[in-house]
Amino acid sequence: MPPIKLAPLFAACLSASVVLLLLYLSLTKPHFAYALESESSRIPSEDHNFYIISDEEPHEETDEHRITVRAEVGVSALANNDPANSNIEIGQTQNWVFPKAAIDGPHGTPGVGLPGEKLEETELQPEQHELRRRQTGSRIYITLNTCLQPSPNTTNAVPPQLQMYISLSESNQKPGPGSGHTDQQTITVDGGYAIFEANADNDVYVGISAPNTSEFSGIWNYNIAASIDAPFYGFEDPEVKNLYFVDGDNHAALLITNDTTQALPNQTVYQEWMKLSPPWGVFASNQNERTILGVQKSFCGLKNNAKVAANIDNIINQNVAQMTNRGLGGKPKEQFYITGLNATSKYWGMLVMDGNSTDSGAGVVGGGGAVWAAIEFETKTENNCALMYNLSFCSEVAYAVPTNPDKFSPETGLPDLAALYDSNAAQMYQYFNYSLQQIPCNTTSSAQYSLARNCDDCARAYKQWLCAVTIPRCADFSNPASFLMPRNLAQPFINGSSISSDPSRFNVNQALLNAVATNSSRNPLIDTSIQPGPYKEVLPCEYLCYDLVQSCPASLGFSCPLRGRGLEESYGKRVNESEGVISCSYLGAAYYLSGSSTVLRPSVYSMVFLAVFLGLRNLF
Ligand SMILES: *[C@@H]1O[C@H](CO)[C@@H](O)[C@H](O)[C@H]1NC(C)=O
Ligand SMILES: *[C@@H]1O[C@H](CO)[C@@H](O)[C@H](O)[C@H]1NC(C)=O
Ligand SMILES: *[C@@H]1O[C@H](CO)[C@@H](O)[C@H](O)[C@H]1NC(C)=O
Ligand SMILES: *[C@@H]1O[C@H](CO)[C@@H](O)[C@H](O)[C@H]1NC(C)=O
Ligand SMILES: *[C@@H]1O[C@H](CO)[C@@H](O)[C@H](O)[C@H]1NC(C)=O
Ligand SMILES: *[C@@H]1O[C@H](CO)[C@@H](O)[C@H](O)[C@H]1NC(C)=O
Ligand SMILES: *[C@@H]1O[C@H](CO)[C@@H](O)[C@H](O)[C@H]1NC(C)=O
Ligand SMILES: *[C@@H]1O[C@H](CO)[C@@H](O)[C@H](O)[C@H]1NC(C)=O
Ligand SMILES: *[C@@H]1O[C@H](CO)[C@@H](O)[C@H](O)[C@H]1NC(C)=O
Ligand SMILES: *[C@@H]1O[C@H](CO)[C@@H](O)[C@H](O)[C@H]1NC(C)=O
Ligand SMILES: *[C@@H]1O[C@H](CO)[C@@H](O)[C@H](O)[C@H]1NC(C)=O
Ligand SMILES: *[C@@H]1O[C@H](CO)[C@@H](O)[C@H](O)[C@H]1NC(C)=O
Repeated sequence: MPPIKLAPLFAACLSASVVLLLLYLSLTKPHFAYALESESSRIPSEDHNFYIISDEEPHEETDEHRITVRAEVGVSALANNDPANSNIEIGQTQNWVFPKAAIDGPHGTPGVGLPGEKLEETELQPEQHELRRRQTGSRIYITLNTCLQPSPNTTNAVPPQLQMYISLSESNQKPGPGSGHTDQQTITVDGGYAIFEANADNDVYVGISAPNTSEFSGIWNYNIAASIDAPFYGFEDPEVKNLYFVDGDNHAALLITNDTTQALPNQTVYQEWMKLSPPWGVFASNQNERTILGVQKSFCGLKNNAKVAANIDNIINQNVAQMTNRGLGGKPKEQFYITGLNATSKYWGMLVMDGNSTDSGAGVVGGGGAVWAAIEFETKTENNCALMYNLSFCSEVAYAVPTNPDKFSPETGLPDLAALYDSNAAQMYQYFNYSLQQIPCNTTSSAQYSLARNCDDCARAYKQWLCAVTIPRCADFSNPASFLMPRNLAQPFINGSSISSDPSRFNVNQALLNAVATNSSRNPLIDTSIQPGPYKEVLPCEYLCYDLVQSCPASLGFSCPLRGRGLEESYGKRVNESEGVISCSYLGAAYYLSGSSTVLRPSVYSMVFLAVFLGLRNLF
């Protein structure tokens, strides 16, 4: 007998089932308050997998009298991919069942997925699904998200977690703390998230219990969902980081995801990613505010408690996200520009996916969304560094640069600031281009200046170096890190006070005030047109200079300063990168926290020329 007769049967039984369900729900308890989540109506609509409560084999095709409710009073049934939402009071236990009929019922339809994604399950033919099911029972996933928690009587205490109990035994239909049964499993709820995954061929009973406590007042609220397709709510392996802090200023931060593909720009997958509307969102929360603790792995918990969001449906006044291919390797990734942050504050940032990214809620496989482990980042203190990205010439720039908030307002002045830096660099590049055109680039290889490098390499290296050097990466003047270079010390602060009037108060050595490298900026434009006052610079990485010298013909006269004779004042080294330190600036730098960098290492360059080129001596 073919076991796939469920669909017609199910259509025929639908109206009867709805009536039955209503009856069932009114007789058994759930007087739950569904105030919080409108998405979670208990009555499933017709277009997603409905469930029937039956004690017979689903393929035995008979009439409606076979449908009998067997679950105990006080046990509510869950349908496939259809979340239920419930309030639960301190000390209370609520019971749910994922009935056999739903487990044996039709699968949800997974979507197309993200570009290049292999959806193994969709490749199975329906017969293979059936075969697999008969061999092992169906794979089932019960997932829980805590949406609200009680408040602590005393500040800062974190409420205890809900508990989840599972019973696969008909003799224990109400698993829970007081059931007295040994045939139940306790599933850890952590950060407001729990998952139970097993092969099941019969009813699965679930108990959700709220611990007894006197230290907190109020209720919990949670979402629970069962699925035979995939976890409805996800929490990704904490080892798999997929969100990185690029840089920030005193009110904004730029975050990016990992590369989404390694495909080449001429490949379809690459182009699909770049055209995609950004699939991920971000929640962020000030670490001083403890409200996300206890729900930091739960999508609804973050949605209810995190103050800052980007690219999440149904949240007003939030930050935006976009796809970009900026950065090392030029691969697609998503970036989040987050504003409205407090200065000198530590934040948690959580990457999330709302549903499956194009759709969410009941009937969608994985429709509850997924959360990735939190990352940490920090905002700057002073107001004379501004996070800047999206330049047209120096398109790889994405970091904080020296600014003057009185001249370039943090709210509206950033495009002007960006244009000032960018056009300055583009202008210098133009001079360089004229010089490069005098070089025999396009001759036979014997006449070319180098066998290994050509003029395109030179132009690329020059642009990288030029952008990094004329657009310095800014750090707080108050940041004590040893790799930072103080700049512009002779200029007054934005607030008018100056170091030279009281060097000891600012703990600044007089020698720094007397040296051109530290009493001014490397790029004179900054001192004349921006006037940011004293700041610190994350020096460009020294390999940018070596790469330039190696890539360009000697006749252009590029050279790098010698170690011990100016190199250290002008260039930095990548150290402690695995600890998340960006000790020198290179385009596309982000806090990757990975030891295995793909960036070219500088080779030792022994020849040194006098650095005189187009009057840019200061820049070297
Ligand atoms: C809380 O305490 C009450 C009364 O002692 C008990 O009935 C209930 O089972 C307890 N709840 C939990 C979750 O332990
Ligand atoms: C999300 O789910 C909807 C409904 O099932 C589906 O149409 C869509 O293709 C899915 N999106 C992705 C990216 O898989
Ligand atoms: C906490 O507050 C609740 C409700 O106001 C109260 O019932 C409980 O006794 C308080 N607990 C403590 C330890 O103060
Ligand atoms: C990030 O991307 C790199 C390159 O594709 C890959 O090796 C690494 O595993 C990815 N990391 C995560 C967390 O996906
Ligand atoms: C894509 O570009 C790479 C090099 O840029 C080239 O080797 C490859 O053949 C190209 N592929 C297609 C499909 O055009
Ligand atoms: C900024 O700080 C204030 C006061 O501490 C706080 O109320 C507010 O939520 C914070 N905002 C953010 C985005 O962290
Ligand atoms: C980036 O710059 C382009 C033009 O250079 C502009 O159209 C676009 O809106 C900018 N995007 C953001 C997010 O600022
Ligand atoms: C130099 O300028 C010319 C003309 O403006 C342009 O065609 C060429 O691409 C530029 N060269 C480089 C390396 O940018
Ligand atoms: C060299 O020749 C190629 C092809 O003829 C041309 O595209 C390129 O712009 C030339 N480069 C320079 C620097 O003139
Ligand atoms: C002016 O600003 C600087 C840098 O932020 C700070 O160190 C200094 O204390 C300020 N001076 C006054 C008088 O507020
Ligand atoms: C910086 O130091 C140089 C060398 O001592 C000096 O000539 C110059 O006037 C100083 N600049 C400022 C703005 O004080
Ligand atoms: C790098 O780490 C070592 C040891 O942790 C530390 O001594 C050193 O100061 C760090 N360097 C920088 C530039 O942070």
